[in-house]
Amino acid sequence: MKKRKIDIRNCAGDIIKALRPGILITTKVGDKVNSMTIGWGTLGIIWERPMFVAYVRQQRHTREMLDMCREFTINVPIGEFRRNILGICGSKSGRDMDKIEAAGLTPVEPEVISVPGLKEFPLTLECRVVYRQEQESAQFNDEITRQFYTMETGDHICYYGEIVAAYVIED
Ligand SMILES: Cc1cc2nc3c(=O)[nH]c(=O)nc-3n(C[C@H](O)[C@H](O)[C@H](O)COP(=O)(O)O)c2cc1C
Repeated sequence: MKKRKIDIRNCAGDIIKALRPGILITTKVGDKVNSMTIGWGTLGIIWERPMFVAYVRQQRHTREMLDMCREFTINVPIGEFRRNILGICGSKSGRDMDKIEAAGLTPVEPEVISVPGLKEFPLTLECRVVYRQEQESAQFNDEITRQFYTMETGDHICYYGEIVAAYVIED
C-alpha cells in the first residue's frame, strides 16, 4: 500500500475539523492492536517538534496500552467512511473484544514506530510519547469541573506525541 507524505501545516485544519464527529487513536502492545474514538486533541509545535496531544481518561484500555508502548497513531477519515467504526471504537473496550476485527479495520504497516495505520482512516500521524501529564483536578476552574469531572469518570491523562511521520495511505 502506498503512502503519500503530507506536511501537517497544510492539513492541520482538516484534522481539527475531523475531531467532530471523531477520529481514532491506535495503540499496539505485542500482537494486540486497539483503536479508540477521540473527540479531543491538540495539534501544534512544542519543544521545537510537531506534536499531537491526546486526552485519555484513566479507565480506558487505550491508557493501559499507551503506558506500555508509549507510541500511537492518529487515524483521520478522508471523505466518506462507515460511521459504525466511530460507534464501535467509541463505545466498546479493547479489554473485552477485538475492535479492529469488529469494526472491519485494516492495519497498515507503519513507517517509523511499531503501531500500524488504518486503511479506512487513511490520514495518519505516527507519534512517539515524549511527555505524559496527569491532569490535576485542583487546577480546573469550576465550570470545567462541573461539566466534565463531577461524576466518577476519572481525570484525563495528556499524552504528548511527537509526530515522527505523517502521510495518507493510498491503494
Ligand atoms: C465521539 C467520541 C469522542 C470521544 N473522545 C474521547 C477522548 O477524547 N478521550 C477519551 O478518553 N475517550 C473518548 N471517548 C470515549 C472512548 O472512545 C470510549 O470510552 C472507548 O470505548 C474506549 O475504548 P478502550 O477501552 O478500548 O480504550 C470518545 C467517544 C466518542 C463516541
